[in-house]
Amino acid sequence: MRKLVVLVSGRGSNMQAIASACHTQNWPASIAAVVASRRDAPALESARRLGLVARAVDHRDFADRAAFDEALGRCLAELAPDLIVLAGFMRILGDAFIERHAGRIVNIHPSLLPAFPGLHTHRQALAAGVAAHGATVHAVTAALDGGPIIAQAVVPVLPGDDEARLAERVLAAEHRLYPQVLQWLIEGRLTLGAAGISWCGQPPPRLFGGASFEPLPPLPDPSGGEPLPPTA
Ligand code: GRF
Repeated sequence: MRKLVVLVSGRGSNMQAIASACHTQNWPASIAAVVASRRDAPALESARRLGLVARAVDHRDFADRAAFDEALGRCLAELAPDLIVLAGFMRILGDAFIERHAGRIVNIHPSLLPAFPGLHTHRQALAAGVAAHGATVHAVTAALDGGPIIAQAVVPVLPGDDEARLAERVLAAEHRLYPQVLQWLIEGRLTLGAAGISWCGQPPPRLFGGASFEPLPPLPDPSGGEPLPPTA
């Protein structure tokens, strides 16, 4: 069984997509905890409703990034995850933290990296007038949004799109892309290492869109429904 810890800061819809896929597809993995960088992150309540352990290491309780990183590191040391999954985690982690957890951290970013790193990616995409936008899952290195790309989901930019509409389309793709990549990691099809990513056998296509997502089931309604049994 691989142990995942999901780090969040806000809403937590990616976390829910991951928890749902882990449960419904019987991954040989468990979510040891969902850890938020804010105690008021709505994701914590969603995690509890799913029967998951939910913890907060609130960045506002610490004087600087190094102190926050240290506290987060202590929390993770207790949980001892095989994989640290950043899912809407809005804090920049320091180099020392990343080095200490090298080869065990993945992130999802809402753009087709290397295009539009940083914040407000949908606004950036609309301003640039691109025809295609999307999301990227990548290994985390000290380079912000710059670690090795594992897979990307492409969505079209449609006439009349505004930030909200485009964000919604990208988010739906994220909910399919991230669980798929985690499944590859858990099943050992993909390994992260200090030197980059490596595939066991033939790598899958790096770009996804439309029908390539077929294997993943639809998400449950995050506003209610049956809670998942505890996986921790
Ligand atoms: C997602 O778009 C993710 O790519 C970005 O922040 C957003 C988080 O959404 N890093 P959620 O908290 O998973 O709903």
